[in-house]
Amino acid sequence: MYICLEGIDGSGKSTQLECLGKWLEKCGFAVTRIREPTDSIVGQLIRKMLQSPSAQDESFQRTLALLFAADRTLLMDTIHKEEEMNRIVLSDRSFYSSLAYQNGEEWIDQINHYALKPDLVILLDLETETAISRCEGKDNFEEKDFLDKVRKKYLKLAKQHDFMVVNANNGVNKVHADIKRIVAPKLGMCI
Ligand SMILES: Nc1ncnc2c1ncn2[C@@H]1O[C@H](COP(=O)(O)OP(=O)(O)OP(=O)(O)O)[C@@H](O)[C@H]1O
Ligand SMILES: [Mg+2]
Repeated sequence: MYICLEGIDGSGKSTQLECLGKWLEKCGFAVTRIREPTDSIVGQLIRKMLQSPSAQDESFQRTLALLFAADRTLLMDTIHKEEEMNRIVLSDRSFYSSLAYQNGEEWIDQINHYALKPDLVILLDLETETAISRCEGKDNFEEKDFLDKVRKKYLKLAKQHDFMVVNANNGVNKVHADIKRIVAPKLGMCI
């Protein structure tokens, strides 16, 4: 099973991925954690490019979108192998982040032809102001207007693609409990 956490910057994806991973391991599952951009050579290039001062240029954004798609194409085999070994793959972001953050839905779809779609997407949704206040001091700070737009896009994608939406304004433990309630039945567990 390939489970992905999505949400705007500061929504708590990394925090909740860690909680979920630990809980699943405690329940006896083998868990593989991944993040996008990955740690592949392409993922490392993406991380470097995201720090560039020209990150807002259109041509730069298109190049980034292509690199994200390439990074996912590399990731495909890894996910398949982990699933074949009956491991649960937990991912911090997926193909849907490209749709939420980047322009040109049709083109993004095309270049991500080989990207795997998660079996379960959990969207951590919260007020943009709250997310920004959680990110203070981090260097991946995004503008409020931009994140508002991304949040709206995520909520639209959630309806189109049946994401499970969790209220991420709540405290860490409550969000974790809500996520457990979504994941447990998918794995045949009762909690
Ligand atoms: N439910 C919560 N309530 C309050 N603070 C939280 C909550 N979840 C996470 N945080 C804190 O908010 C900050 C951002 O959380 P986290 O790094 O998990 O978000 P993220 O979605 O992974 O962000 P990014 O997209 O930038 O990687 C961290 O300092 C984390 O400790
Ligand atoms: Mg994170």
